[in-house]
Amino acid sequence: MAKINSTKTIAPGIQDAPVEHSIYLHSSEQMEKLLNDSIHLTVTSPPYITTLFHEGQEFNYSGFLDHYRTVVSEIHRVTVPGGRYALNVGDIVTKYRYPKLGTLLRVPLGPDLLQITIDAGFVLLERFIWDKGYTRNMGGPLLGSFPYPMTVYNNVYFENIYVFAKPGKRRVKQAVREKSKYTLEEWRIWSQQWWRIETISEKFKHHPAIFPLEIPMRMIRMFSYVGDTVLDPYMGTGATMMAAHLSGRSSIGYEIDEKVETLIVQRIEFEQKRGTPLDGLHYQLFNGNGQR
Ligand SMILES: C[S@@+](CC[C@H](N)C(=O)[O-])C[C@H]1O[C@@H](n2cnc3c(N)ncnc32)[C@H](O)[C@@H]1O
Repeated sequence: MAKINSTKTIAPGIQDAPVEHSIYLHSSEQMEKLLNDSIHLTVTSPPYITTLFHEGQEFNYSGFLDHYRTVVSEIHRVTVPGGRYALNVGDIVTKYRYPKLGTLLRVPLGPDLLQITIDAGFVLLERFIWDKGYTRNMGGPLLGSFPYPMTVYNNVYFENIYVFAKPGKRRVKQAVREKSKYTLEEWRIWSQQWWRIETISEKFKHHPAIFPLEIPMRMIRMFSYVGDTVLDPYMGTGATMMAAHLSGRSSIGYEIDEKVETLIVQRIEFEQKRGTPLDGLHYQLFNGNGQR
């Protein structure tokens, strides 16, 4: 099946790397089109059950964990030995986990997904903290029992980025390693455990939960080589695809939202207004039955 090639990139030292991008419009619970050991890096942020949550909706936490278990076993299957998996996930603060208690509680989604990912066969290589910017919590402080003790919530808004490895070793030509180098200045910034990167969620109105391109960019430049293939099983607006493109990597994305093409156009326009050169980005879209 013909795919469209593209050569545009902004990462320094990466020229004319042929890349291709494919999007599958169906659930990542089954990635049957992807061969075993064919993905070099996965970068993703899962859907949070609370993102579009409404009063009265069932908070099916164990169902969500079961869904993730299925997806991560697929990610493990398709990852090459020695390949990496970067999972961006925060906790949830909600009153729906234990509704009878009637109080906001922190649900440890990050640690729960971390454990499930390890159970699937990955090992934890590193963890970064993404500080999402100025002190707030979805538009306002959580006052708890202020000014009285017993219920104080923190208002610092951060998420984890867990980086996993599939056991094994990759063999890569020295020429490819040379092309994939990053600078000392980049290393100094990226190797900090705590990253302050302002969230753009409030600026981009078309999707409730996106990450800035800087998150997948750093993951891709640190944990894959030029020419590799990067997977995002929850691609949303296509940020991972865009970062892969800018870094000379190919990408594959899965998304269940039928509006994905519109979302991508809106995200590209948004990023271009911020000065990101995405003109040469082309992708192919496939639905559950084949090409579209
Ligand atoms: C947190 S968002 C990802 C946003 C993305 N990182 C970005 O910056 O645009 C999670 C996405 O997963 C999608 N999603 C939910 N369940 C899915 C499934 N089973 N398979 C594929 N995508 C799914 C949602 O529609 C949503 O767009």
